[in-house]
Amino acid sequence: MWLSKSRRSWERAPILHKVLIGNGAVIIVGAIGGTYLTDMLVDVSGTALALFFASVGILLSLIINYYILRSALRPMELLQRTVEHIDRGDTAVRAPVEEIGDPDLKRFAQALNTMLERLTAHMRVIERNRAQLRLLSGQVLSAQEDERRRIARELHDDTSGALARVLLNIEMCEELLPEGLGEIREKMLATGLLAEETLEGVRKLIFDLRPTLLDDLGLAPAVRWYAKNTLEPAGVQVVFEASPHLGRGSATVETALFRIAQEAVTNIVRHSEAHHARLALSREASKWVLVVEDDGCGFDTQQAEHIGNGNHHWGLFGLRERVELLGGTLNIDSSPGKGTSLRVEIPAN
Ligand SMILES: Nc1ncnc2c1ncn2[C@@H]1O[C@H](COP(=O)(O)OP(=O)(O)OP(=O)(O)O)[C@@H](O)[C@H]1O
Ligand SMILES: [Mg+2]
Repeated sequence: MWLSKSRRSWERAPILHKVLIGNGAVIIVGAIGGTYLTDMLVDVSGTALALFFASVGILLSLIINYYILRSALRPMELLQRTVEHIDRGDTAVRAPVEEIGDPDLKRFAQALNTMLERLTAHMRVIERNRAQLRLLSGQVLSAQEDERRRIARELHDDTSGALARVLLNIEMCEELLPEGLGEIREKMLATGLLAEETLEGVRKLIFDLRPTLLDDLGLAPAVRWYAKNTLEPAGVQVVFEASPHLGRGSATVETALFRIAQEAVTNIVRHSEAHHARLALSREASKWVLVVEDDGCGFDTQQAEHIGNGNHHWGLFGLRERVELLGGTLNIDSSPGKGTSLRVEIPAN
């Protein structure tokens, strides 16, 4: 009873008190024991006696200090272990307050635990917000795809149909025009050319909005067509590589990969000043891999992807969002003057 009480108060004593008590005990025991032993062993030679006492004293002091410091530093060790767990990302860990006797360290452990509780609560809120945000971006993206599909259909059925009829009418009028009306014929010819160009523009717009190639033939032909028709007129030579037997992916994955290629290709035309570009599409085990490279001016990726503070560049941000929504990864390797390489991996299912 008495023993366990004193043991508890020893454990609760601060480190400084423990070291003081321990070392005081060593000195007192050394002094009393030394005097007693000297008295008993007077006939042993002086040097041997001094050596004997010095060794016993040192040994005793080492042993006692070892035990004192071990017990005194145990709470620190427990705290250190807790901090190491936190460092490894385990925020569910808590400092074992009940195992720590030292009142100062106990208070420290309690404060650490309170901080960890708050941190975990904040992280839960952030996680919830992030999940909601992700859900929202998913819905925005799918609403955007639906809207694009609707506009593409209307452009195809109404606008491009009407333009085709206008062209036909112009051609018919040209044939019906009597001889000798050269000026009117010229005007009709110019109007016909204008209608043809506009029709071509509308067709391109329809393809940008919703490439029918993607639905009909699949990802690789659609990406190849888009890359060639966008890059070559802009003076960028393009190589497209697709591994054989790619097969079809889900509509969501194919649409995402096409939109990613579209943004990367548009960026090459708008920003890179590149002469060459390479696109590679492959399917490895259970993932799709898309690589888009150029030999252009490159850029500072950290700065470009930082949204806010007047930065209104959403292309790469949206691209990352699409990839993460599908559980994939995006790596952009670029630095000023070194070209750009973009690699996207998306799980196949
Ligand atoms: N292939 C590239 N070569 C050089 N710079 C690039 C390339 N791709 C992106 N960048 C740089 O990164 C910036 C951000 O690109 P991002 O696609 O996010 O925005 P943006 O193309 O400027 O605008 P948008 O929102 O219309 O896409 C660009 O403004 C450009 O400076
Ligand atoms: Mg862009």
